[in-house]
Amino acid sequence: MSFLDDIREVQAEAMRAISAVATAEALEAWRIRYLGAKGAVRNTMERLKEVTKGQKPVAGKAANELKNALQAAFHELSAKLAARRSQPAGPKPDITLPGNRPRIGHAHIITQTIDEVCDIFGRMGFTVATGPEVEDEHHNFDALNIPIEHPARDELENFYIDEATMLRSQTSTIQIRVMEKSRPPVRVVATGRVYRPDTVDATHSFMFHQVEGLYVDEGVTMVNLKTTVDQFCKAYFGQTGGTMGPEVQTRFRPSFFPFTEPSAEVDMLFHNPDGTTRWVELGGCGMVDPNVLEAVDIDPERYTGWAFGLGIERMAMRKHNIPDIRLLFENDVRFLRQF
Ligand code: FA5
Repeated sequence: MSFLDDIREVQAEAMRAISAVATAEALEAWRIRYLGAKGAVRNTMERLKEVTKGQKPVAGKAANELKNALQAAFHELSAKLAARRSQPAGPKPDITLPGNRPRIGHAHIITQTIDEVCDIFGRMGFTVATGPEVEDEHHNFDALNIPIEHPARDELENFYIDEATMLRSQTSTIQIRVMEKSRPPVRVVATGRVYRPDTVDATHSFMFHQVEGLYVDEGVTMVNLKTTVDQFCKAYFGQTGGTMGPEVQTRFRPSFFPFTEPSAEVDMLFHNPDGTTRWVELGGCGMVDPNVLEAVDIDPERYTGWAFGLGIERMAMRKHNIPDIRLLFENDVRFLRQF
């Protein structure tokens, strides 16, 4: 075979080989084999020495053409592979399809309940007050007319931090904090966490939330308290559109709290699925004890007031048919997403 035939053979073989190259690694192997320092093109150039003088111009030209053709094929495929690498694999996205909506979270059911409660009392003219969760004995007991020997002050009934500091056991502490700073007329609601070492069951938790209400002015009476609590219950529980049966009914049951006199327990009528009814306690209330008003320098001869403290969890459970308080704090999103 002549030298020119050899060149044609090398070119044809190289072109066949490159047509099967699909990756950058295979292309590099091809380059080494044909265009490398010991490759087929270099070999052909070496063999030019053996060609007779007369044939040299033709043979030299053919060898150069081989080299140029292979180099051009290499650069072309190299550019193609680089372009393919910069493109994402798989089919092109269809931008006309509707997008995947990101899942947006929402407030916890207890937060929603607190917001709703504050909203209703806000419409009745109450402002929102707050107080610390870590309290002193003065605000949690003394100023609330709870004497030192009262069982509610027992170490086993409270989370004490030290002898005089504790996690508040009721939001009634905020009554004192508000009246220390302001003079009648006072009309506030306060919500927040409270802590008691109660045994946990379906309706009790060691940490729960209360809403406290306080109204102090001249001529405030128990009638006003009863009406306000009843109106609140109708506004809050009446909003679910019949899932709880007939309109909400409340009742006041005589009770005792050291900081109110007289005192009452607020109950709500529950309608059981079997058609029967039962009364469920929602919270405590009463007329502010004159001793409490005196402790914050408000004249009990001139002013009267009432207060209430209701359990937020109990309200949410009643409204949304939640059977167990623990569900509210286990934070299983499958449960929480429902509300
Ligand atoms: C009080 O805490 C009084 N401070 C309420 C009050 C305020 C009376 C103002 C007078 C004037 P009581 O301990 O009953 O009262 O709690 C009130 C409500 O909190 C209960 O009716 C119940 O709804 C809720 N509650 C009490 N303990 C728990 C608990 N362990 N888990 C969940 N909710 C509870």
